Amino acid sequence: MAVTRTFSIIKPDATRRNLTGAVTKMLEDAGLRVVASKRIHMSREQAEGFYAVHKERPFFGELVDFMISGPVVVQVLEGEGAMQRNRDVMGATNPKDAAPGTIRAELAESIEANTVHGSDSDENAAIEIAYFFKPEEIVG
Ligand code: CMP
Repeated sequence: MAVTRTFSIIKPDATRRNLTGAVTKMLEDAGLRVVASKRIHMSREQAEGFYAVHKERPFFGELVDFMISGPVVVQVLEGEGAMQRNRDVMGATNPKDAAPGTIRAELAESIEANTVHGSDSDENAAIEIAYFFKPEEIVG
C-alpha cells in the first residue's frame, strides 16, 4: 500500500485534559508518523472556514464555539493508507459507537468533545493540510 498523508486535529477537550501525548502515542502505535505538528488557538474565522462543509448543520455554531474554546494541535500524519488508518484508530464520531481500543472510545467525552478530527478522504486531507501548513513546515 502506498505511503500517504492525512490531517489530524487534537481537539480542545484533549488539550484541556493534557492528553496531547496520549493521543499522539495512539496514532504512532497505529503506524502513523507525525511529520508536522503545531499547537494553535484557532480564530472564529479559521474554524468557520475549516468546517464550512457543515455550515447548514444544526450543530455548526456549537461546533465552532467548541473548536475555539481552547488550544488544538494540528498535525500531518504519514503512513501506509494514512487516511483510513487514522480513521480506524480514531473510531466512530460518537464515542458511544466507537470500537473498544480506539481513541474516541478510550478518551472522548461526547460527540462534540470527541478528542480528534481526521480527514475523511485523501482529497479532503490535501485540502485540510494546505489550510494549516505551508509545504516547508512538513518534514517527512
Ligand atoms: P469532526 O470529525 O471534527 O467533524 C465534524 C464534527 O462535528 C464532528 O467531528 C463532531 O465532533 C461534531 N459534531 C457535533 N455534533 C454532531 C452531531 N450531532 N453529528 C455529527 N457530528 C457532530
